Amino acid sequence: MTTGKGLKLVERDADGVDLAFRADVLAGLAEPQKAVPARWFYDDAGSRLFEDITRLPEYYLTRAETEILRGRAEEIAGLIGPGRAVVEFGSGSSVKTPLLLSAIAPSAYVPLDIAGDFLRAAAAELAGKFAGLPVYPVEADFMRRVELPAEVEGLPKLGFFPGSTIGNMIARTATDLLRSMRETLGEGALLLIGMDLVKDEGTLIAAYDDAAGVTARFNLNLLHRINRELAGDIPVDAFAHEARWNDPFARIEMHLVAQQDVSFTVSGQRFAMTAGETIHTENSHKFTKRSGQMLLAAGGWEPRARWTDSESRFALVLAEAKPPRSAP
Ligand code: TRP
Repeated sequence: MTTGKGLKLVERDADGVDLAFRADVLAGLAEPQKAVPARWFYDDAGSRLFEDITRLPEYYLTRAETEILRGRAEEIAGLIGPGRAVVEFGSGSSVKTPLLLSAIAPSAYVPLDIAGDFLRAAAAELAGKFAGLPVYPVEADFMRRVELPAEVEGLPKLGFFPGSTIGNMIARTATDLLRSMRETLGEGALLLIGMDLVKDEGTLIAAYDDAAGVTARFNLNLLHRINRELAGDIPVDAFAHEARWNDPFARIEMHLVAQQDVSFTVSGQRFAMTAGETIHTENSHKFTKRSGQMLLAAGGWEPRARWTDSESRFALVLAEAKPPRSAP
């Protein structure tokens, strides 16, 4: 697929295999600690399972963030002011986007997403809810600086990055993203960003290993996808989902744990794992007030306000693009 700018988003071989998917899986399975980048979770089944995760009783993140947006709407709107172009990093299929847009009287809405079909559907739905609000979807990889549509060029920007998605990146990648957001959004920009907070381990583990097994199905779906799209014969039943707390890194890790010795092929390449060995599939970093502020500062953003939900599980931070300076 190519965009209007001629950027290739998905390259496939003659058999229709997504070459980036294959490259990531083959490289990741060859590592001493096997790992597959989390972006490959989201095929159709994975995207549906993820929506189900956000409704689980144990998965407090979505409810906590929504509670903040609802309960603090006036205060948030007062600090942001009217007339900004809201640039959402992700396509905004959730209930959070309408909550924000109806609170702040924006001048335009620009959802950015790499999944074009998903993006256009979400944008059309939103445009239907907000008559008179110009919506300009942009199909792009927001990990790099994005060229925004000319229509929003002169407008002050508000970046919106909910869901603690920033926590799914390691510090270096998160910093790169925050810096490129600054470049995308320009001078005087604000950023409203969700950050999940460090809390007791039991609550965290339960959020990523629910009783109904939805997160387990979500994680295991990656193996089904590899088998289907990359001619794999991974014995999926020989793997179990595990969520573990990595304390030094303050993050939940998701792994697929081999329950016995296994060997399999993917795209003609042979791999073996011993019982207990894992494939690392996701990180979800948790923040304190200080660690969140430090990460934002590293990316060139200065917190102006911070709200938490009634149980102090989740933080929504409003930050301002900080001019570069060398003096203390
Ligand atoms: N950013 C959210 C979180 O870390 C959502 C999310 C991303 C997620 N990948 C996930 C949730 C995998 C569960 C499993 O919680």
